[in-house]
Amino acid sequence: PIKACLFDLDGVLVDTAVYHFKAWRQLAQSLGIDFTEHDNERLKGVSRVRSLEIILEIGGKTLPQEQILALCEQKNSEYLLDVAKMTPEEILPGVVDFLQALKAEGLKIALGSASKNAQLILERTQLLPYFEAIIDGRHVVNGKPDPEVFLKGAEALGVLPEECVVFEDALAGVEAAKNGGMLCVGVGQPEVLTLADIVVKDLTEMSVERLHSLAQKG
Ligand code: BG6
Ligand code: MG
Repeated sequence: PIKACLFDLDGVLVDTAVYHFKAWRQLAQSLGIDFTEHDNERLKGVSRVRSLEIILEIGGKTLPQEQILALCEQKNSEYLLDVAKMTPEEILPGVVDFLQALKAEGLKIALGSASKNAQLILERTQLLPYFEAIIDGRHVVNGKPDPEVFLKGAEALGVLPEECVVFEDALAGVEAAKNGGMLCVGVGQPEVLTLADIVVKDLTEMSVERLHSLAQKG
């Protein structure tokens, strides 16, 4: 039986991709790199440092590690200016209804995100009270597709991996869930999230019934 749901943050609960893109694009420009919206897809689910490494790869540049860390700090300061202005209106469709339904049925809820800003974003959008555990970029050594973030989430909730369903919009995140032995609902396009057990457009398509039927199928 399913006992818990583990949610990715960016792209599943809130759409912060536009703010990440804005801040990375500005930084890339200052380095003379043309970073496009298409390139931005590659940064989904990927850590901050790894994101900058990808941008440098695109621009054919290399930088010393200390400069990479300084630039990441600089990008994050820009990003936080937008996060500070976030409101509950930026929660994606279906999210609040589904979280409330899970709570009503006694299912456990945790966050499994690569972001070091996860707690702050949950606070800004007033989603924090729904989460019994928050595992994010501050708690993991190995980023997605390593299952660490979700395994730690299951552990924090006191449930087994096979009792969890993960919600993910990034391919690396779906891989992380499957690597951890968990069921996974992809949020986005079926052509991209091929490894997910089912794919939904957004959480308006989810219900507690559909969650349980997922376990029966598998
Ligand atoms: C993920 C995003 O959730 O968090 C990535 O999909 C982002 O795009 C990563 O790079 C790290 O976020 P932050 O907030 O720690 O810079
Ligand atoms: Mg995501």
